[in-house]
Amino acid sequence: MSIDFNQVQETPVYICELEKLENNLKILDRIQKESGAKVILALKGFAMHSTFDLVAKYLHGCTASGLHEARLAREGMNKEVHTYAPAFKHDEIKEIARLSNDIVFNSPSQLFLFKDIVKEVNPSILLSLRINPEYSESPVDLYNPCALYSRLGTTKMNFDEEVLPYIDGLNFHALCEQDVSALEGVLKAFEKNFGSYISKMKYINFGGGHHITKKGYDVDRLIQVIKDFRLRHNNVKVYLEPGEAVGWQIGVLVSSVLDIVDNGMKIAILDTSAEAHMPDTLAMPYRAEVRGASEANKKKYTYKLAGNTCLAGDIMGDYSFDKELKIGDKIIFEDQIHYTFVKNTTFNGIKLPSLALCNKQNILKIVKDFTYEDYKNRLS
Ligand SMILES: Cc1ncc(COP(=O)(O)O)c(C=O)c1O
Repeated sequence: MSIDFNQVQETPVYICELEKLENNLKILDRIQKESGAKVILALKGFAMHSTFDLVAKYLHGCTASGLHEARLAREGMNKEVHTYAPAFKHDEIKEIARLSNDIVFNSPSQLFLFKDIVKEVNPSILLSLRINPEYSESPVDLYNPCALYSRLGTTKMNFDEEVLPYIDGLNFHALCEQDVSALEGVLKAFEKNFGSYISKMKYINFGGGHHITKKGYDVDRLIQVIKDFRLRHNNVKVYLEPGEAVGWQIGVLVSSVLDIVDNGMKIAILDTSAEAHMPDTLAMPYRAEVRGASEANKKKYTYKLAGNTCLAGDIMGDYSFDKELKIGDKIIFEDQIHYTFVKNTTFNGIKLPSLALCNKQNILKIVKDFTYEDYKNRLS
């Protein structure tokens, strides 16, 4: 069933289609049932908490990137909460420990710094270490956690065996929108570098970046890869923590044409923004599909679609349409639910910096301190 866009009175709006979300969740659930792996939602990619009851019907919980996401996971879903950050802060770690079932440290130094504190607050908490398998087929460094000088995860050289008595699991995350063969490559490197530790672990977390719900992804092969891995390692528990695969192609961003100007070509100014509302189109970069439109010049009327901000590069791309665009027409960007509004707010739930004034006498006054509520209330 497709959305009746006549219902849309106000733009811009992201519309998440629940049936499509549930279809993705069913695919992930099949993987859980047939491979024995547990799947948890990476909130960094999709955190629309009004859908959490539905998500909780299928998935085992959430993976959080810090205090705010951990709190959202606990309050909004209340299933397993795994929390990882490149580095934790003293003033947040106790609350994170209370909220989490599992804390994933990025380095042995963070583990040694905080292990006693978190165990004191939450004696049943599990601890793990994110390792860097030093192998990734990610095509761009921006999305490659194993790129040169990466801070993400502990390399084999930096793996201090003194951590072993304190950890229950190992995590890696080395994929970005990739298929099973890329995972197989990572697993090979992981087992080569860290294989001797697996028998001491309760679980191994394969991270995210599995493009599972994309058409053509070989789900059967993923199930087999997980089953084979578990067979090789005494049935160790396996986690996957996708974000994108949950939110993949489950909704749109609807915007309106505000004005059309001509500077060598027609440019439609929209009431949305690539920079503010669809940031990966610039960061990745990639070209979003627009409903009813084709590449430039394929159809009769070509426009540059542009955002309503001052950034010169706030441009979604050139698209062609069968009919001339008019002011007030709706432009529908496809697949805009993952990594969009989570970034508009506070990516990874990271706290916004406070705002302060410093007067002539050099006295500093904080005028705004952002809280968990600021994070949560900008989602839905
Ligand atoms: C540690 C970790 N886990 C899971 C994910 C989710 O990845 P994706 O949304 O690509 O599945 C990410 C994404 O950056 C991540 O850094």
